Amino acid sequence: MKITVVGAGAVGATCADNIARKELATELVLLDIKEGIAEGKAQDMMQTAALLGFDTKITGSTNDYSKTANSDVVVITSGLPRKPGMTREELIGVNAGIVKGVCENILAHSPNAIIVVISNPMDTMTYLALQSTGIPKNRIIGMGGALDSARFKYQISQTLGCSPSDLNATVIGGHGDTTMIPLIRFATWNSIPVSTLLSEDQQKQIVADTMVGGATLTKLIGTSAWYAPGAAGAAVVESIVRDEKKQITCCVALDGEYGQKDICLGVPVTIGRNGWEKIVDFKLNAEEQDLFNKSADAVRSMNDVLKTL
Ligand code: 2OP
Repeated sequence: MKITVVGAGAVGATCADNIARKELATELVLLDIKEGIAEGKAQDMMQTAALLGFDTKITGSTNDYSKTANSDVVVITSGLPRKPGMTREELIGVNAGIVKGVCENILAHSPNAIIVVISNPMDTMTYLALQSTGIPKNRIIGMGGALDSARFKYQISQTLGCSPSDLNATVIGGHGDTTMIPLIRFATWNSIPVSTLLSEDQQKQIVADTMVGGATLTKLIGTSAWYAPGAAGAAVVESIVRDEKKQITCCVALDGEYGQKDICLGVPVTIGRNGWEKIVDFKLNAEEQDLFNKSADAVRSMNDVLKTL
């Protein structure tokens, strides 16, 4: 198994680090446009192999895509991160050009790769990857929902005082501060609906805090977060390479599912060796469907910006 992570910034390097620790690949390539960064971080990670006991060969490359040839899975993290006060949407102009170029270079050397998109604005970058490459839709997966659902579990666990791992909770819709939809009605703690354990106000606060989870961290750190985004990317990769068929919320192309088409948006999907395999229907109520439609409208108007670039 060969995996490439494009972009050796904090998110890309953390994702690569998780992939190496989990031994998801025999060969892992980290690539960046900045001279020496990918080589340096790859070497730094390789020097943890003897300490952590993993057996993945990690190499770095400065923009030489021939080194990524025949990758089975490619994670794209390239592009600018958010600065405090910035929305993910404001990155579209710069990041669209970068992501399009990365997709072309990747597929020139790995025509069968499954692509996992992390770059922001993630829903539009996933749509761009699909439109610009024309590869089968199941091979393009945006990881936003995996991250947002993990943040949702964190927020619930903080209020309930429970382990995040004992929670089942899903965020659908866009990966934006106003477009994501934490589905509190479906959230459970060891099969018990959390709505029976939390007051209305607590539930509202959890939903609100989840939606601005990324922005809160950007304000605290001064740049976009990386531990959870990197781990979320690696979790998606793990389900692919181990053919786990895990149900993870990811941004995928909709063709009528959840009432939407010609858009990539976060919905629960099963993920295995062929990429995303099945969209799971949560049977939204009218209020949730309305939120999903509004989220789709917002993401669609962002996708329209691509035509003007
Ligand atoms: C975040 O929400 C990087 O978009 C990512 O932190």
